[in-house]
Amino acid sequence: MGKGKFITFEGIDGCGKSTQLAITARFLEERGQTPLIIREPGGTSIGEKIRTILLDKKNDEMCAITELLLYEAARAQITQEKIKPSLEQGNIVLCDRFFDSTFAYQGYARGLGTKVVESLNLLATEGLEPDLTFLFDITPEDAFKRRAARGESEDRLEAMGLGFQEEVRKGYLEALATVGSKRIKIIDASKSPEEIFETVKKYLLDEGQQ
Ligand SMILES: Nc1ncnc2c1ncn2[C@@H]1O[C@H](COP(=O)(O)OP(=O)(O)O)[C@@H](O)[C@H]1O
Ligand SMILES: [Mg+2]
Repeated sequence: MGKGKFITFEGIDGCGKSTQLAITARFLEERGQTPLIIREPGGTSIGEKIRTILLDKKNDEMCAITELLLYEAARAQITQEKIKPSLEQGNIVLCDRFFDSTFAYQGYARGLGTKVVESLNLLATEGLEPDLTFLFDITPEDAFKRRAARGESEDRLEAMGLGFQEEVRKGYLEALATVGSKRIKIIDASKSPEEIFETVKKYLLDEGQQ
């Protein structure tokens, strides 16, 4: 891998983001890298407090715009506090969700508008974009089965149901159509973790050439 790469992992809940991020981190560590591993929302002490508010099922009165701005607030903090300094030191940063999630969830699925979200994303990150984004694509039904197997209770957004997850999936495809496949690599996430990682690895190695 080259210096200072920012790589994000995207897709609906249960698609396998955290699984592939962990395999990627191990792969890079075996090659002598020390990637910074972070998750959105969260990853800073302010961001983790915002995460708790966002995912708390008791907060069912939260309006969609509040939700959007809280995500962007957490993003601004992690970008300034963690991601930019780490990239400047030449590290690889692996992030479990980043601004494409806001595009898909709040911009598209919640209907707040993808243009509004794009400008807030730009504000929050001061123009920083991932070098590479993996979009793990899967049907909401298959993702639901995986989440059930994971055995954790659902958070506020996961509890929204299959119809909402289908909208989020479409939102991600819209992000791909808007941004293009140079940054966003769509990967069939219905395969085994090993098969999926073979594809991830190919893109990682390609990115390392740049
Ligand atoms: N390719 C796969 N095939 C089958 N099960 C998987 C695969 N990838 C992940 N899982 C399992 O599905 C569940 C959800 O995966 P996870 O990585 O937590 O998804 P996400 O972080 O996108 O919500 C976990 O129990 C995980 O072990
Ligand atoms: Mg996860």
